[in-house]
Amino acid sequence: MNTKKIAADEAIKLVQNGMTVGLGTGSTAYYAIEGIGRRMREEGLTIRAIATSARSEAQAHSLQIPIVSFTDFDHLDLTIDGADECDYNLNLIKGGGGALLREKIVASNSRQLIIIGDKSKLVQQLGRFPLPVEVVSFGLEKTFLKLKALGCQPTLRLAEGKPYVTDNNNFIIDCQFAAIPDPKALHDQINSIVGVVENGLFINLATQLIIASETGDIQTLNA
Ligand code: A5P
Repeated sequence: MNTKKIAADEAIKLVQNGMTVGLGTGSTAYYAIEGIGRRMREEGLTIRAIATSARSEAQAHSLQIPIVSFTDFDHLDLTIDGADECDYNLNLIKGGGGALLREKIVASNSRQLIIIGDKSKLVQQLGRFPLPVEVVSFGLEKTFLKLKALGCQPTLRLAEGKPYVTDNNNFIIDCQFAAIPDPKALHDQINSIVGVVENGLFINLATQLIIASETGDIQTLNA
């Protein structure tokens, strides 16, 4: 059973005519974008969208989903995105796909952030997944050491042997903590390091979690 698609298909029911919608990034968000395109074709649904990555924007273009710019709206009505981990307070780790900065900008301009995923994403405590931190390349070595001093094992993300470059021309350092007992405190500590652009902890942003299981059951958690 395709749990990612099941969760995505549930989430896209929330999309209504005339909405401005944030399109997430990743293998789960892929199905949401595909489903929105399908509803536009089959039901005549009319929306406009902002994408959280170049690859989601390309997918939207291929489905004729109109992409607008931030000057074209006051707020997004709804964003549908995946996550790497979600806890029961709806705090998240995101950025496994490298799109955390755009995802957080879109999420923080959206009235609703719907997070979709399979059961493996729901955890008691965040931190098993290495926390992605987007950093500028200048002074990277020092930023790396400052992250390490917070008690994590940092790793510069690579792609084909070279530093992975985000859509914003930055690098990502994946920070493996033993656990993250206080996500908000860690979020603030990391973002106070000069050289850090943003980190993948999403605190108080998600409004609803839609989790699908192998049996096809859907669990919904609300903020
Ligand atoms: C992209 O940067 C991420 O935040 C994704 O939303 C997250 O990694 C979930 O991806 P999958 O749906 O592929 O697991």
